[in-house]
Amino acid sequence: MVQNNVTMLNAGLSKKLVAYFSASGVTRTAAETLAEAAGADLYEIRPEIPYSKSDLNWNNKASRSSVEMNDKSCRPVLSDCNAEIEMYDLIFLGFPIWLAYHNLIQCTQA
Ligand SMILES: Cc1cc2nc3c(=O)[nH]c(=O)nc-3n(C[C@H](O)[C@H](O)[C@H](O)COP(=O)(O)O)c2cc1C
Repeated sequence: MVQNNVTMLNAGLSKKLVAYFSASGVTRTAAETLAEAAGADLYEIRPEIPYSKSDLNWNNKASRSSVEMNDKSCRPVLSDCNAEIEMYDLIFLGFPIWLAYHNLIQCTQA
């Protein structure tokens, strides 16, 4: 099974997905570049409520990102669950680092 997957990857036959979350655009640009280079589909993980500029202020302990990151059980609600990840052989996951950790939206069940 592993050997089959490796063979498919080497032959360029595997189906690839770049799934990413980006609050301010940096990860989006990297994900688009990777998807193009790898011949992968692209899927944006979106929060139901987009992060505002003030939500992203890590210097404010009361900002949304600070409150969420201080609660490791927090699972921000997604705007959709349409990634169809079962269709893919290989999935790249892109996300920004928040407070020396991956942001918690990556943990929300799709
Ligand atoms: C709430 C918050 C916390 C962050 N914490 C870190 C950190 O601990 N270390 C780091 O190197 N960058 C940190 N950053 C910077 C982001 O990782 C960086 O700006 C990233 O490129 C943003 O990606 P995006 O534009 O795709 O959202 C933080 C950014 C935010 C908004």
